[in-house]
Amino acid sequence: MSTLELKHICKIYPNNEKKGHHKHNNLKTTDEGVLAVDDFNLEIKDKEFIVLVGPSGCGKSTTLRMVAGLEEITKGELYIDNKLMNDIEPKDRDIAMVFQSYALYPHMTVRQNMEFPLKLRKMPKEEIKKKVDEAAEILGITEYLDRKPKALSGGQRQRVAIGRAIVREPKVLLMDEPLSNLDAKLRNQMRAEIIKLRSRIDTTFIYVTHDQTEAMTLGDRIVIMKDGVVQQIGTPQQVYDTPVNLFVAGFIGVPMMNFFDGELIKDGMKYYVELNGVKIELSPEKEAKMAAKGVEAQKVTIGVRPEHMELTQREGQMIQATVDVSEMMGSHINVHIRVQEKEGVMIVDTQGNSNRNFRMGETIQFTFEPAVIHVFDAEGKNLEVKKEL
Ligand SMILES: Nc1ncnc2c1ncn2[C@@H]1O[C@H](COP(=O)(O)OP(=O)(O)O)[C@@H](O)[C@H]1O
Ligand SMILES: [Mg+2]
Repeated sequence: MSTLELKHICKIYPNNEKKGHHKHNNLKTTDEGVLAVDDFNLEIKDKEFIVLVGPSGCGKSTTLRMVAGLEEITKGELYIDNKLMNDIEPKDRDIAMVFQSYALYPHMTVRQNMEFPLKLRKMPKEEIKKKVDEAAEILGITEYLDRKPKALSGGQRQRVAIGRAIVREPKVLLMDEPLSNLDAKLRNQMRAEIIKLRSRIDTTFIYVTHDQTEAMTLGDRIVIMKDGVVQQIGTPQQVYDTPVNLFVAGFIGVPMMNFFDGELIKDGMKYYVELNGVKIELSPEKEAKMAAKGVEAQKVTIGVRPEHMELTQREGQMIQATVDVSEMMGSHINVHIRVQEKEGVMIVDTQGNSNRNFRMGETIQFTFEPAVIHVFDAEGKNLEVKKEL
């Protein structure tokens, strides 16, 4: 068993702005200093795979390092298996960490690197050998056990670093951007390896990345952060289907969600969005949620994912757009468009459209299913969501 609880965790760094050490562009600053992590709350279940995701500088590593004990917790409480950890030494937390830079000992062989944490623990020799052989097997590095790290590729080195972390069967495995040093192809491959690894070891994972694809594919739940503040916590499906605000909406999903300027219109119990002169009624679910909140008519941002934009000739639903450029991707075409002054992308299936030319400047008509769009107020809040967190 290994559950974690982060309760009102804050990290305040001294404000070194004048000395020019760090740029704290959008972080809250108080008399105490800079709020790098602001009131982080999360309960992590046994064997859950949690991903912290957000742009560089949003406080992911700081949060992870506080869990590991490498960084002091300024405020709040960290519990592992219901035991308060704030003042427990890193080595006594039963946590292992994997970093972006593999941090292997260059003068040691792979086997010696992996044995190292077990030798520190004075584990009997035969047991060490057994554990290392097992971990090497899981990670597919058995044949490299006698090599030095410099004779390995980046992906192999990262496997060794993971191997060294898992040999002692930690309660919690922390990973800070472990794939960021690898090229795109290897990153995809290692992502799949981590999914396999996860199914073979009994550990709770906290994984940090700036990459939304890694977050979506690896996480049981993902925590989206911005400027030290948690924006949303949910399963990949939840954050994709119902992003709480514009930031999450834009961060999750590739290509990025399109944002258009529109109007929310209320007529009795019915809600419509008007975009470029076309009025489309929202789905009954969205209408019910907005009615329950008492949402009023207002100027809004309408969010539509590229994969949800459809070419149409249906009377009354044709929203006009101008084609910018189109990119033939094989299975589909990315058509870049302009609606009023806003730019967007729509994904058009090649099926049935392969001979279709999308000429620059051409006018096309699109629509969308009202159930899959998102409506945001002037502050960027999703109008169908009750409240943020
Ligand atoms: N030792 C430090 N002293 C002062 N500020 C720091 C220190 N370490 C990190 N920061 C600041 O805290 C913020 C969060 O950093 P970090 O947790 O490393 O972000 P991320 O891992 O999401 O890229 C950043 O603005 C960073 O500049
Ligand atoms: Mg970081």
